[in-house]
Amino acid sequence: VNYGGVLGDVEEYQAIAEEFGLKLIYDGAHCLHTAYRHSLDAPWIPIGALDAPVCYSFYASKCITTGEGGMVTTNDAALAARLRRVSFHGITPPAETGGTGMNWDYDIAERGYKANLNDVLAALGLSQLSRGWEFHEQRRSIVSFYQRELRGNIPADVPEEPANRQSSWHIFPLLLRLEELTLSRDEILLQLRDLSVHCSVQWRPLHHFSLYKALAREGKARFGRLPVTDEIFSRMLTLPISPAHSQDEISRVVEALKCVLGAATRNRNKWNHLREAM
Ligand SMILES: Cc1ncc(COP(=O)(O)O)c(C=O)c1O
Repeated sequence: VNYGGVLGDVEEYQAIAEEFGLKLIYDGAHCLHTAYRHSLDAPWIPIGALDAPVCYSFYASKCITTGEGGMVTTNDAALAARLRRVSFHGITPPAETGGTGMNWDYDIAERGYKANLNDVLAALGLSQLSRGWEFHEQRRSIVSFYQRELRGNIPADVPEEPANRQSSWHIFPLLLRLEELTLSRDEILLQLRDLSVHCSVQWRPLHHFSLYKALAREGKARFGRLPVTDEIFSRMLTLPISPAHSQDEISRVVEALKCVLGAATRNRNKWNHLREAM
């Protein structure tokens, strides 16, 4: 998984896969327009050009959408043919069966699924894809605005693109500095909601869900202590970042954040400018 649109440590993934004889498959659900490079002077490599299959999601909230559905990219022609087959009942197309070539004369040589993107959604996907870079630029412009307005101006860590990564900016997560605040993350979220600014948390860690707690109690799952995950979760708050938002709406998010965090700040002198913004 590559959270929020930033690729993880590709070399490390490859090394682990090699050591344990595993096949690497990238979860690129957040990663349309994501790229990485080995070093500052190396060329950028888009995620789709990696030597492993990448699975993208076109769910409603993603960088482009078909409502539901997704796509797999691979540079392995045999794998591509097999994916096409198994995503549609395991059917071998008539042209490849050595039969009459007529429409009905297909074969089923392996078990498949009904997991194809239907034609109507695929048409929507093509039109969305043609606007992908436009949406990406809109996201980047929202990100620049947030970074300019928030970095160093609120008691929170504001996300940056690492030097060797280009993010899709699917998610914009702030990490609140709770030690500088009188309110918890959830209290801040509620106050923002009262100002009609709907931020979110992406996501609750798996070991906090009832199902996984029950599995752990029954000895069917084992979670060690996950102090880093728990700490990040308690501080995380994600801001609206859809290209559908107007500049006015994004400005209101910033104003509301400054207002709520300004009122909840412990060291009034350090964050005086926030109180002025209220
Ligand atoms: C990181 C990640 N991987 C996979 C998925 C699953 O994608 P889909 O809903 O298209 O199956 C999601 C969906 O939100 C996701 O966020």
